[in-house]
Amino acid sequence: MTLEVSDLHVGYATATVLQGVDLTIGEAQPVALLGRNGMGKTTLVRAICGLRPPTVSAGKVVLDGEDITRRSSFQISRAGIALVPQGRRVFGSLTTLENLTVVPRTRAAQADDPWTVERVFEFFPRLAERERSMASSLSGGEQQMLAIGRALMTNPKLLIMDEPSEGLAPAVLDVIQDRMELLRTSGMSLLLAEQNVDLALDICDHAIIIDDSGRSAWSGTTASLRSDPAPLERFLGI
Ligand SMILES: Nc1ncnc2c1ncn2[C@@H]1O[C@H](COP(=O)(O)OP(=O)(O)OP(=O)(O)O)[C@@H](O)[C@H]1O
Ligand SMILES: [Mg+2]
Repeated sequence: MTLEVSDLHVGYATATVLQGVDLTIGEAQPVALLGRNGMGKTTLVRAICGLRPPTVSAGKVVLDGEDITRRSSFQISRAGIALVPQGRRVFGSLTTLENLTVVPRTRAAQADDPWTVERVFEFFPRLAERERSMASSLSGGEQQMLAIGRALMTNPKLLIMDEPSEGLAPAVLDVIQDRMELLRTSGMSLLLAEQNVDLALDICDHAIIIDDSGRSAWSGTTASLRSDPAPLERFLGI
């Protein structure tokens, strides 16, 4: 799996937000997407996934050599990109089980070891215990597990997570982080938009930072960010 985003410009009716983002994600090389509040992380992941708004005005998104810019979110899901949205967005009036089974599973037939409800329940045993509960009654952590499980049910090549740690208690965060590590070692490609920089650097090999001009102002390895945190200071103020 290779995703290449080049010189992407994305905006809303009222404003252009991203003005030249470059990003490459390779096989089993998790990438952290960093940037202060409102710099356009969610805008970028929504644009990659074909969700509207926003609108792409220039640049390209290429998945395994195929130009997927401006395809519908359904086509992009079928091409193998899944999003765990910021704020989880589970279907509150459906049960845990229903949230997992409403997912279109067009990719399952071609997967070697497709994700199933049983496999998601093994991955997150807590969800099995809450199988018949309304998603709206789940805790924040359980909803996050469900949002991840629902994304996995599409059998993605690339899993994009937008602020998965937001608002989670430390104990739940440990479970989520442990699962992310498992996905990573299983070879799944990950793009992780995170305010929690420590978490992002723990999980990811590479990072890009979006600055206040809406450009990918810095990209490189997380190892280099650890040895020289100057870009974190400069672009994130930490
Ligand atoms: N639907 C929308 N219509 C107009 N402007 C929007 C819309 N959604 C977001 N924006 C604006 O786009 C900019 C980027 O927002 P975005 O949500 O992508 O940032 P972010 O980096 O994900 O922030 P956060 O860290 O808070 O999640 C912000 O200025 C925001 O106000
Ligand atoms: Mg966001």
